[in-house]
Amino acid sequence: MNWENQQVVVLGGSSGIGLSTVSWLAAAGANVTAVGRNQDKLDKALASFGGHGRVAGEALDCNDRAALERFFARAGKVDHLVLTLSGGEGGGLFSELDLRALRRGFEAKFWPQLEAAQAALPALRRDGSMTFVTAISARIANPGVAGLGAINGALESMLGTLARELAPLRVNAVSPGVIDTAWWDKLPEAARTELFEQQARTLPVGRVGRPDDVAHAIRFLMENTFMTGSVIECDGGLRLT
Ligand SMILES: NC(=O)c1ccc[n+]([C@@H]2O[C@H](COP(=O)([O-])OP(=O)(O)OC[C@H]3O[C@@H](n4cnc5c(N)ncnc54)[C@H](OP(=O)(O)O)[C@@H]3O)[C@@H](O)[C@H]2O)c1
Repeated sequence: MNWENQQVVVLGGSSGIGLSTVSWLAAAGANVTAVGRNQDKLDKALASFGGHGRVAGEALDCNDRAALERFFARAGKVDHLVLTLSGGEGGGLFSELDLRALRRGFEAKFWPQLEAAQAALPALRRDGSMTFVTAISARIANPGVAGLGAINGALESMLGTLARELAPLRVNAVSPGVIDTAWWDKLPEAARTELFEQQARTLPVGRVGRPDDVAHAIRFLMENTFMTGSVIECDGGLRLT
């Protein structure tokens, strides 16, 4: 695919998987707008592109529908939309799970992705693409992931219908396993290191994921015009363990 003159919006583009996606899109020559809530974080993240003329950052909260609509009205035509907004709350054994935290988890991931996806429709090219980032928690039965699985499974369960309703727009998702990003910063460093080492020992691929592993799968879904209604598991084999 020729990325020159393609307009891509990456929601959650100031960190982790989203930032890695912005990075290769910029290198491929696309016009990219990265969105996050924090302007300083965006400026710092995008500074690494050395003032690359085709990468812009815009601060907005994807829970704010009016701000989303103003953003997409200004954006003009958008060829591809990538949604990598993070949540984080909602994990833990069900018997101990704080359901208020799970509600906050839905508010931080499920709802902003839907608000953004719907608000983007008037701007999105009819045969462009929309790629969600969900999580492998939706596809495994490991203790402690029921809540996270519910948030991500809710998004994944909508994909097929969206792919049919919104065709020829293609709607897909990448479902990552454990990826070394700021998402894990909420864990104390020792616990994070222990988790990553434990994952590296048990995963068939022998390591935790990197943001560019997932960005690569996102790129595949954007470029392959025969893919729609699909979820790519990008988890190093976590779902098999
Ligand atoms: N890392 C993992 O192990 C892993 C595993 C499975 C699935 N995932 C999923 O992958 C996606 C990306 O995660 P990541 O690890 O790359 O996380 P991350 O490094 O924390 O990045 C999240 C990005 O989303 C932005 N963001 C969050 N809420 C937003 C909102 N309401 N409006 C606008 N921007 C918002 C953040 O910027 P601001 O903070 O400035 O808003 C940041 O740019 C998430 O959906 C996550 O659930 C991650």
